[in-house]
Amino acid sequence: MTISEEDLQRFLDVATEAALAGGAVLQKYWGNLSSIQEKGRSGDLVTEADRASEVEVLAVIKRHFSDHAILAEESGQLGQLDSPLLWAIDPLDGTTNYAHQYPLCAVSIGLLVAGVPTVGVVYNPILGDLYRAAKGLGATHNRQPIQVSTTAKLADSLLVTGFAYDRRETIDNNYAEFCHLTHLTQGVRRGGSASIDLAHVASGCLDGYWERGLSPWDLAAGVVLIEEAGGQVSAYDGSPFDINSGRLIATNGALQQAIIQELGTVQPLPQYKPA
Ligand code: IPD
Ligand code: CA
Ligand code: CA
Ligand code: CA
Repeated sequence: MTISEEDLQRFLDVATEAALAGGAVLQKYWGNLSSIQEKGRSGDLVTEADRASEVEVLAVIKRHFSDHAILAEESGQLGQLDSPLLWAIDPLDGTTNYAHQYPLCAVSIGLLVAGVPTVGVVYNPILGDLYRAAKGLGATHNRQPIQVSTTAKLADSLLVTGFAYDRRETIDNNYAEFCHLTHLTQGVRRGGSASIDLAHVASGCLDGYWERGLSPWDLAAGVVLIEEAGGQVSAYDGSPFDINSGRLIATNGALQQAIIQELGTVQPLPQYKPA
């Protein structure tokens, strides 16, 4: 499916309008939450800010594009997931951070065109960081062009990763990978917001990111940022990135092969059980 530059720009503008609307809600509830609930799994939180942000984001998207399909974290699916134009929306990425007033959180809005992440906006309303990208139009941070880093050796790199909410129930919990890459690099951060992690790799303050157990709404926008900032995304084994697999490696490009290789050597640690 071919999209004109004019349409791309319009999609990007509407995604921005929606992200700002959701962000205003997150600013309003910041430090002022009356409802923090668990979604079922330990540590998997949802607040009234998640829900209220999603209402505002969806209202903007639906007002402009009533015929587009939507997949949003809190309200689910509207339309067909294989629709040629599918918005993947996380109204608050980094709920745990947000609930603790740790200011790494974002509204993440991506548009998949025939399944391909094509437009992405990640907005952190607490720190005032707006990241935007569209295929072929480049990536920006607060309207200034961004580029991935030039770090070429793992030993010189600073990476980021995350741990999915099912980490207590699965041996595939990323603990071994975290230890391994911590030994080989200058450090591995755990940001707590996948879309911000991706935005930080796109803007060059981090060199690479990997994670499993993610959803399309965590990734759609950030993947566009990475690619448009000159970086690379792939599956753990180097095959093409699949947004429905929930896992990816995203780097400045120079480190992609090294991280694919290192993740390929890691054996899971024994299941950790606190005494
Ligand atoms: C979570 C964050 C976190 C990642 C989790 C995600 P949420 O999203 O992106 O960094 O490790 O896997 O589910 O629940 O805060 O929107
Ligand atoms: Ca969540
Ligand atoms: Ca998320
Ligand atoms: Ca969320």
